[in-house]
Amino acid sequence: MRIISAKDYQQMSRHSANVVSAQVILKPDSVIGLATGSTPMGMYTQLIKWYQKGDLDFSNVVTFNLDEYVGLGKEDEHSYYNFMLKNFFDHINIKKENVHIPSGIADDIDLECSEYERKIKSYGIDFQVLGIGHNGHIGFNEPYTHFGRDTRKVELAELTILANSRFFENPNDVPTHAISMGMRTIMQAKKILLLASGKHKASVLKQALYGKIDPIVPASILQLHTDITVVADMDALSEI
Ligand code: PGA
Repeated sequence: MRIISAKDYQQMSRHSANVVSAQVILKPDSVIGLATGSTPMGMYTQLIKWYQKGDLDFSNVVTFNLDEYVGLGKEDEHSYYNFMLKNFFDHINIKKENVHIPSGIADDIDLECSEYERKIKSYGIDFQVLGIGHNGHIGFNEPYTHFGRDTRKVELAELTILANSRFFENPNDVPTHAISMGMRTIMQAKKILLLASGKHKASVLKQALYGKIDPIVPASILQLHTDITVVADMDALSEI
């Protein structure tokens, strides 16, 4: 495990954008797993700037997002599809057909999940970006998730609904279910980049990286990955 420490959110965003850039420059047709949430937003902003300067080319990159809310369509302003367009894809030269995000309004959600998993397997993820939830979740794999799970429909933990309610006008509007890549899907990525920022992530980051490997802290399984880079700021690293 490599840990790259940054002094603050800004620097964490730059360092993580550097790691993603290296991946894209070394392998222009990389298959990259992407995350939503507050943590990677600065990284996306930085990548957009470097793209606009002409330093990066995403024309052959393929992406798979970690998760999507069940019940929210592409047009819904709270969907992760919308988040990705607004914060990243609309500003770079990625081909729309190379972008993969599961549909939260598919008629048959279970089929949508198995098809998504099948597609991920057919490409193989080279590089997976992850954030970490307050409860140690990665994607929407909440505590007690079996480490062997593939992409499927999941129920969100109370803590997750509470944390994500900051993005909604009315906390009751936060969906209760999502489609999420599974723990096994994530662990099969060749390389993983885990991002963390802020004091509120310090305790869970310590448990994830140095605690017992236990489904109570889903991210703890990452200790077994052979190529993981952690980019975190001093606040998130303050208990390590
Ligand atoms: P955050 O979410 O980046 O908004 O803190 C991380 C996560 O829940 O995985």
